[in-house]
Amino acid sequence: MSADVVTADGRARVLADGNEIPLVGLGVWQVANDRECVDAVRWALELGYRHIDTAQAYGNEESVGQGLRDSGVPRGEVFITTKFYPRRKDPVAEAQRSLQRLGVDYVDLYIIHWPAGGPTWAWPGMEQARELGHARSIGVSNFGADEVRRLLATATVPPVVNQVQFSPYEYRKALLESCRQAGIALEAYSPLGTGRHLASDTVARIARRHGRTAAQVLLRWCIERAIPVIPKSTHRERIAENAQLFDFRLSDEDIAELDALDRTGGTDRALERKWWRS
Ligand code: A2P
Repeated sequence: MSADVVTADGRARVLADGNEIPLVGLGVWQVANDRECVDAVRWALELGYRHIDTAQAYGNEESVGQGLRDSGVPRGEVFITTKFYPRRKDPVAEAQRSLQRLGVDYVDLYIIHWPAGGPTWAWPGMEQARELGHARSIGVSNFGADEVRRLLATATVPPVVNQVQFSPYEYRKALLESCRQAGIALEAYSPLGTGRHLASDTVARIARRHGRTAAQVLLRWCIERAIPVIPKSTHRERIAENAQLFDFRLSDEDIAELDALDRTGGTDRALERKWWRS
């Protein structure tokens, strides 16, 4: 199956295992495990989001689950991602703890948060978590092209997602291409550069041309390539703004201008600097 299949409404991407991931999700990195996270998740779901991205390391899975229940949106309509914290040993046991904290029977996507200790050791446990029905899809995060290659050489069930830091300023073109060739959907975290890229003059100029906001331009740049995005916000109006992406298009010239902002040299690496020791 092609790695770039989008559903008929253009709002979700079909993964290599046939599951569908909504192109826009709410990210909750650095959102406190209290009312702040519960409200953000509930607002997002009320505003039409159907995709929430959390992680064991964020410590806020309970609040994500609470926000889901408070929203009244049926569990089956929402795509939930969580991430295996790779300082732990057992992806299956940790998945079971995540399900308990979230108050759900399965997650839609379970990914290795980063390749601590190498890219392959945790994968049999990830495959088992899928086998047991704890996760419908499995994948990785912060894996460079070489780590993906090493994983694919040993995997029985291949990863379907690689979630990496990705934006016009972090346009990892060679990594995107190698994921595409392997049938892996690259997913963009920190698509606003954790807020820093919102001050870009280039982005502001393009936003003015379209009568849109800088955030919408940065996010639409990913959507144009069918790359799922998970912008983080705890403000209701921004959460709404970040999902208004399907009523305008960027031109080829806009996209070329944004592509030129890349500071990674088109790298096939996931990160400029690792924050862990192998
Ligand atoms: P806040 O949570 O206070 O709204 P990223 O998704 O790249 O990690 O960026 C997240 C950062 O960008 C957060 O600091 C968030 O602030 C801010 N942010 C998210 N959406 C918007 C927006 N539409 N306008 C301005 N700032 C935003």
